Amino acid sequence: SLVAAVIPAAGRGVRLGPGAPKALRALNGTPMLIHAVRALAASRSVSLVVVVSPPDGAAEVKSLLDAYELPERTDFLVVPGGESRQESVRLGLDALPPDHGIVLVHDAARPLVPVDTVDAVIEAVRDGARAVVPALPLADTVKEVEPQPEAGPEPVVATPDRSRLRAVQTPQGFDRATLVHAHESVTQDVTDDASMVEQLGEPVVCVPGHEEAFKVTRPLDLVLAEAVLARRRL
Ligand code: C5P
Repeated sequence: SLVAAVIPAAGRGVRLGPGAPKALRALNGTPMLIHAVRALAASRSVSLVVVVSPPDGAAEVKSLLDAYELPERTDFLVVPGGESRQESVRLGLDALPPDHGIVLVHDAARPLVPVDTVDAVIEAVRDGARAVVPALPLADTVKEVEPQPEAGPEPVVATPDRSRLRAVQTPQGFDRATLVHAHESVTQDVTDDASMVEQLGEPVVCVPGHEEAFKVTRPLDLVLAEAVLARRRL
């Protein structure tokens, strides 16, 4: 079955500070989105990449893709996104041609994911899993708190057993029909695609993620991303 990747890149990235939409910020001179597109297209299995642009930015993103060298064996499409990440992914799914049976969803904000991680996710879907997420054990202990209406100390409610927790990354990989069904049925707000599949009662599995697949969210993450790129060039 052919593999397509949907890259939601419509977020404003407010936590990164003022400036251009997050996906268009440069890392070592190249926009984050271009790094992310190249990271997915680096897999020989990925034959189509659908970039979901800011709602009013499809033309800008199209010319950006044209301006950079990308693998010739891969097709690229740009579609305008929506208000939420969930809506942006759904608009990306709507644009897929019928012959792609496996879909990856990858955050533009994870520009440095290694190709081995992409291939491991694809392989797990090919082996029969309907939903696959790359995940890592946590370094920090996690507390559940009772959020307060005002700033100030927050009471701790629980400390989940850290050894059973995983931090999940992207690309998340899916049997296409399963993901489309999830997007048609789940209306609740979610922060990743796999949780929509979980809500259908379908199994989701984790495969090993990678440190370099971290999400560029805050200013320090830009420093780390540029350091990783500099090290790769050695
Ligand atoms: O906000 P967060 O870091 O969770 O965003 C994850 C990804 O979802 C980013 O690549 C962002 O561009 C994308 N996104 C989107 N449409 C939105 C909001 C976020 O495509 N409306």
